[in-house]
Amino acid sequence: MSENIVGTKQAAEMLGVSVSTIYRMVDQGILLPTKTPGGQRRFPVSQLEEYKEKSRTIIAPQNPYQMKLDIDSGKIVENTSDDSPQINSGDDEDSKETLEVVADDKPVDPRNSLNDLNGSQWLPETKSFFYQKGLGSKHPHAQIERQHPAPFSFQDISRLVIFFTKKGMKVLDPFGGVGSTAKACELEGRVCTSIELQKKWHDLAIERLETEVGEGISKKHTFILGDTREELKKFEACSFDFIVTSPPYWSILNKKADYKVKKERLANNLATNYSDNDENDLANIKTYEEFLRVLVNDVFLECGRLLRPKKYMCLVVSDFRNKSEFISFHSDLIQALNHRTTVDGYKITLQGVKVLLQNHKTLLPYGYPFAYVENIHHQYILIFRKDKK
Ligand SMILES: C[S@@+](CC[C@H](N)C(=O)[O-])C[C@H]1O[C@@H](n2cnc3c(N)ncnc32)[C@H](O)[C@@H]1O
Repeated sequence: MSENIVGTKQAAEMLGVSVSTIYRMVDQGILLPTKTPGGQRRFPVSQLEEYKEKSRTIIAPQNPYQMKLDIDSGKIVENTSDDSPQINSGDDEDSKETLEVVADDKPVDPRNSLNDLNGSQWLPETKSFFYQKGLGSKHPHAQIERQHPAPFSFQDISRLVIFFTKKGMKVLDPFGGVGSTAKACELEGRVCTSIELQKKWHDLAIERLETEVGEGISKKHTFILGDTREELKKFEACSFDFIVTSPPYWSILNKKADYKVKKERLANNLATNYSDNDENDLANIKTYEEFLRVLVNDVFLECGRLLRPKKYMCLVVSDFRNKSEFISFHSDLIQALNHRTTVDGYKITLQGVKVLLQNHKTLLPYGYPFAYVENIHHQYILIFRKDKK
């Protein structure tokens, strides 16, 4: 630590707030830390002192974190817990591996057939956004995940698994990759079926559970190597309690490597796409229109058949650019899937869209100083349900 610069924990101590409050202040642009080459935040002491000084004269703005509805008693009460966003900036010293569901001994409503949460645990999970949480690229348990070009964070998926299932329930990921959903399921006591086309990712998913969770653990779950379009047909209707997945975002990984891909993946000898020429890889479908048609008709509607009635399917997707065109994949997917009928006669209906904020990502000067080219630093979680017609 240099004399005039401090880390996140010391900054929190100086201001008398929690570390997560410091993260929130960074998000809101109130504090402007620098980053060390290893990615750790550093705060100039002068900036913290200046903030402290100013904050003495500022009347606190209306703060949604100060009060909350205690849903179990129906009263508005002071919020003593810090349910502010937990951000993992990738390489931060404060990263933790486990998801913390607020320990709370209030009973679960006996009518709740969806999950094991009581009212005060349920309510924060209905927020339309959350901050992505990850282990950080240097964490020993991030080394398998890192080999895949587009994994999602098992901690984010744990959160969905906890909300959309009860312990012991069955979860399906039709694009399983390196097993992030399976890891989340194992950690949260659910049972996963994970389907993946490429042997490389399929094998790594199994290895991941064995090395990161425990020997023999992968056997508690089902890992299927194959084309999801064929494999899904083999299951009976209504076999799963929850489906969560992230599909290929068409062919975005097949485009020419940009600065970021060169620096973060090619330089470290990491794969930049799922497969080279595998024609069954949905990322290799020639046109976007055909890709969307196959994804919805052959995969997601079939997933709908496999879901139990009144159960949910979460699709984690992002918008992207194809050459200079901005493709709003999330909205195209909603248009193509919402209100469609499954072969077993149910309707798939959109229940909400959660934004998964990736505020830790590095800003790149695309387009500068000529045009607005977005740094896409969020994903969408599209939440669908299987309902009666
Ligand atoms: C976005 S990645 C999923 C990553 C995963 N969520 C994880 O955390 O590891 C999409 C995956 O779909 C796989 N895939 C592409 N076409 C497929 C197909 N027809 N059947 C099964 N998997 C396929 C790719 O190989 C890739 O691993």
